Amino acid sequence: MLSYIATTMSSSPPPPPDPVRLSVRTSSGRYSIEIAAEASRRLTPLLDAAGVPARRFVVSTQTVWRFHGERMHGVTAEEPILIPDGERFKHLATVGRIYDALIRAGADRASAIVAIGGGVTGDVAGFAAATYLRGIPVVQVPTTLLAQVDSAVGGKVGVNHALGKNLIGAFHPPAAVVVDPELLATLPRREFRAGLYEVVKYGAIASRPLFDRTSRDLAALFARDAAALLPVVAESCGIKAAIVEQDERESGLRRTLNFGHTAGHALEAVTKYRRFRHGEAIGYGMLAASALAAARGVFPEADRAELASLITKMGPLPAVADLSATEVAEATKRDKKVLAGRLHFVLPTAIGSTVVVNDVTLEELIGALVGIGLKP
Ligand SMILES: NC(=O)c1ccc[n+]([C@@H]2O[C@H](COP(=O)([O-])OP(=O)(O)OC[C@H]3O[C@@H](n4cnc5c(N)ncnc54)[C@H](O)[C@@H]3O)[C@@H](O)[C@H]2O)c1
Ligand SMILES: [Zn+2]
Repeated sequence: MLSYIATTMSSSPPPPPDPVRLSVRTSSGRYSIEIAAEASRRLTPLLDAAGVPARRFVVSTQTVWRFHGERMHGVTAEEPILIPDGERFKHLATVGRIYDALIRAGADRASAIVAIGGGVTGDVAGFAAATYLRGIPVVQVPTTLLAQVDSAVGGKVGVNHALGKNLIGAFHPPAAVVVDPELLATLPRREFRAGLYEVVKYGAIASRPLFDRTSRDLAALFARDAAALLPVVAESCGIKAAIVEQDERESGLRRTLNFGHTAGHALEAVTKYRRFRHGEAIGYGMLAASALAAARGVFPEADRAELASLITKMGPLPAVADLSATEVAEATKRDKKVLAGRLHFVLPTAIGSTVVVNDVTLEELIGALVGIGLKP
């Protein structure tokens, strides 16, 4: 059902996996995603080739810049703009600090921002780029697995408001995306694992081969083995790119990307975003959606068990036994994805395919949440 640009996968032994280049069409043009080991060391020529303006401003964080700045410092002659690290700084005040630095340096329309970091950096720097002088180009150089397979692709940028996550934002497709899986070597294991749940999601919604590969190569992936990582990152990116290309504004197909996210977001909200990394909540969300689909008889038991077993195999998830299924189910009603009072729910129908329904009842959802370990 889904067509996405095939990635090159060498069948012969390890050494350097072939680079993959994807091209994404958007309403405003086209951009390419370069996925290659060491791609970050070729940042300058890659950006030159993509036609990115030569005056480039790096936006990154202390942590990321300390680990990886050296291999990329040649990308700019300007002082890097380092923003504070973490979701709690994903707000307008941080965007304001980026504007301050840009204005002080005299950044004009012939300037570009190069966002080097996790999803927070990409979203904040992307929003600054979307709004500074009514929009200057942004290049995304994602450094977490989540950012590489998800947030750097698709053009959604934005920040949180004290009253809710991602309430302020824009569509600002990148001028280019440069993905270097080697940057993941320094990522804490928990962050890596959190991103891997999104990879499992892509397999579950769109690709049985990706699902099988992830399951088979789990140990090598956790070891950040380049030969294992590159094809998995590339296929995940390819799925996201193909989906957003067909449905940039989320009117249909893009909703399938929300598999596991309805219950997942609710779990994050009831625990005030403190207990779970986003991906971990999605791990539970996928378990809940699978249980619900299996109870409806639309998801074969064998597939449900296989998906659950991969999620379990990836490692322990934070506890949920103290959380009320009723409270979590109620929280889904406040999801941004509620349209005209109807909650769109993505149900798996097999590993590799889904259906979007809008008739899931509160009782069904509570049942599924109890089934995965929450208290009634
Ligand atoms: N725009 C979108 O379409 C989209 C999609 C999904 C998620 N998001 C957003 O992405 C954010 C989450 O992104 P995230 O999970 O990358 O979190 P993050 O950006 O907070 O990064 C997680 C942690 O990893 C550290 N880090 C980053 N790269 C590193 C590296 N190479 N080595 C060592 N440490 C490194 C960071 O300093 C940070 O502490 C959320 O705000 C979410 O809303 C956006
Ligand atoms: Zn997600």
